[in-house]
Amino acid sequence: MTATTPTPGAPEKAAVRSMFDRIAPRYDLLNRVLSVGTDVRWRRRAVDFLEVGPEARILDLCTGTADLLVEALGRGPRSSGLGVDLSAAMLRRGAAKLRRRGLGGRARLVGGDGERLPVGDGRFDAALVAFGIRNVGDVKAALAEVHRALRPGGRFVVLEFSLPAGLFGRVYRLYFSRILPLVGGLVSGERSAYSYLPASVAGFPTPKEFGALMEGAGFVAVRWRHLSGGIACLHRGDKPR
Ligand SMILES: C[S@@+](CC[C@H](N)C(=O)[O-])C[C@H]1O[C@@H](n2cnc3c(N)ncnc32)[C@H](O)[C@@H]1O
Repeated sequence: MTATTPTPGAPEKAAVRSMFDRIAPRYDLLNRVLSVGTDVRWRRRAVDFLEVGPEARILDLCTGTADLLVEALGRGPRSSGLGVDLSAAMLRRGAAKLRRRGLGGRARLVGGDGERLPVGDGRFDAALVAFGIRNVGDVKAALAEVHRALRPGGRFVVLEFSLPAGLFGRVYRLYFSRILPLVGGLVSGERSAYSYLPASVAGFPTPKEFGALMEGAGFVAVRWRHLSGGIACLHRGDKPR
């Protein structure tokens, strides 16, 4: 089979699945190295922003290796979680991680598409997605699906990369578009995956545009905040009661 890389801005599902299956063995390591550990802090901030209750039923869309789900479940001893992802190789690593952390009994990981979630209506108190929504072909469909899966009053938090402005933005773009693909390519052996990353961030809606998409899907009280000078962004919205 030939290795394919998704088209930034219009990622094809088969290419996304195949790319994450290929980079899964080095995915966590590269996250830590390329963000100098900041990705861990960002996920913590995402769960803070969710203000999750101790018994919450949590949906983690595009869960990958389940780092965000682990963080969320750590906040409430009686909370439970479902992680959904296209990539079986990412999910296998996520499942092993959940077991190692003693969270296997409270979390389930399933293969599935964020555009057609394999869950009933109103099943979750809270939903999260980290660095995933940018890889979904039909973002509007995924937002509508999360809205459907949440109970009335449920909350959704999105963590995604963004591009900072000004002088810092110019320096950062140099790192993001030149150095990151080089290091990512060397460590993972998949240069194209780490070239896709900055290209897909450049093609993603701005924080203001993404906030409008959330409102269009029916979320209310939509707000966002920049992280680390604008390298990443958190969005939050509630399903009306
Ligand atoms: C960059 S990883 C993020 C993983 C994890 N959320 C994290 O914080 O590290 C993106 C994940 O989204 C998944 N993904 C992309 N498109 C998807 C879709 N349409 N439905 C479900 N998962 C999808 C990929 O398979 C991949 O595991």
